[in-house]
Amino acid sequence: MCSKWSSSVAQLVRSCRTLAFRLTAGYALAGLFLAFAATASLYFVLCSELDRSTDLFLADKLHVIRTMLRERPDDSDALHEEIELESAARKYEHFYVRLLDAQNRPLLMTPGMAEQLDLSKFLTASQGQPDHAVSVKGAHGRPFRVTSATAVVGSPPMGSDTIQIAIDVSQKEELLASYRFWFWTILTGTSVLFPLIGYPVARHGIRPVEGMAMTARRISSTNLRERIRAEGYPLELASLAGTFNEMLDRLEESFERISRFSADIAHDLRTPVNNIRGETEVALARARTIDEYREVLESCLEEAVRLSELISDLLFLARAESPLTHLHREAVDVSELLDDMREYYEASVVENQVSLATFPSKTPLMAELDRKLVQRAVGNLISNALAHTPPGGSIRLGANAENGSVRIDVSDTGTGIPADALPRVFDRFFRVDTSRAQASGGTGLGLAIVQSIMTLHGGKVEIESQLGQGTRVTLDMPLSKR
Ligand SMILES: Nc1ncnc2c1ncn2[C@@H]1O[C@H](COP(=O)(O)OP(=O)(O)OP(=O)(O)O)[C@@H](O)[C@H]1O
Ligand SMILES: [Mg+2]
Repeated sequence: MCSKWSSSVAQLVRSCRTLAFRLTAGYALAGLFLAFAATASLYFVLCSELDRSTDLFLADKLHVIRTMLRERPDDSDALHEEIELESAARKYEHFYVRLLDAQNRPLLMTPGMAEQLDLSKFLTASQGQPDHAVSVKGAHGRPFRVTSATAVVGSPPMGSDTIQIAIDVSQKEELLASYRFWFWTILTGTSVLFPLIGYPVARHGIRPVEGMAMTARRISSTNLRERIRAEGYPLELASLAGTFNEMLDRLEESFERISRFSADIAHDLRTPVNNIRGETEVALARARTIDEYREVLESCLEEAVRLSELISDLLFLARAESPLTHLHREAVDVSELLDDMREYYEASVVENQVSLATFPSKTPLMAELDRKLVQRAVGNLISNALAHTPPGGSIRLGANAENGSVRIDVSDTGTGIPADALPRVFDRFFRVDTSRAQASGGTGLGLAIVQSIMTLHGGKVEIESQLGQGTRVTLDMPLSKR
């Protein structure tokens, strides 16, 4: 029982946190506020307009009686008609007039006025503000609007009288009461109707988001092709869906790359292991001479070296990606480093019948670099140049500094790289000519390692190549750690 109760409370809390609920609550509150503001302001306008029309009526009456008293003080018939008969002739808007002389003795009075109004209260209420109307309650609780004013009798003046007028405003009060009833009815209706209409509207508005969530739920590592179809979505959600699809494109590409990478690793590890196994099995199949065993062992050693180089390259790449990897930066003279590299590759250069020249900067080029890693990067580039430059070609190492960066470039006059392969040369295990690279022992990790070394240094690597004309790779690193 208790768990049932707590689960329904949890469900209620969850639904309060939904977007549809929040939007509905927002619409309902805004709608309610607007309905309240509109009806309340109309009510106040109506109140003041009703008061104004009553006050105008009172002022008009006051003006008529004053004029009569001033112009025709002796025309008692006219006064009698105005004060005693006119109100009695009215069916709904009853008004009462009393005329007092200078000593406050009543001269004329609308019949029934004493029963309807507490006349002593009338005096105090209206005389406080001459010529201004005030609201008072009548003897039977009926609402009245009253005014009182002095009036000059005769022209030239012979004295002054007091005119008191009261108008029964119960009709208007009833009108306002009916208005208030409708006011609260409309507000109650609005507070019920707004959520009833707003909730389906909000649900309809966020349906695309639910669609996106469903698509996202369907996506797994084996199902990365799924995309959100954003046709008909509102612009904001279409752009969100577009961004989401772009993210899926990138994820799909990364997944493909990772699975290609794993397949390549497996393949590249299997080849030397199979070679070692095959050669050993053949050698052990029958008795061999010492020289034959030596030959097999040498071949096995070659494969083992290849294997261990591959493993250490892979380990290097894995470590380079770790955020914990630190560089051992030291002050390195880049020109000197390039000269050392040239000397190191002297023998291979002679063997390949190419030329290797350095074009270092004229001034010493000092930079804060990890010497071993930069040597490795430049070494990989020289190896590539040597592998792809036919006899008679030339390789050139250059260095210069500009805008706080040191640029090392390795260019050759070799075979070049086809334009469609160029964007992929930094991918792990990528080789343009797989069969040839396999024969020459390339694993396709060299340029990936160069790129990792540049990333570790906060720099970048760029490659330009023309098929049949040559290749130029530029390493760009900050002169010191930023
Ligand atoms: N200077 C170059 N001239 C022509 N092609 C090149 C050059 N440098 C790289 N390439 C092409 O780019 C591919 C990738 O080079 P990368 O250095 O990454 O691998 P690799 O040289 O094949 O193997 P590894 O360097 O791991 O022994 C090479 O297989 C080659 O096809
Ligand atoms: Mg290479």
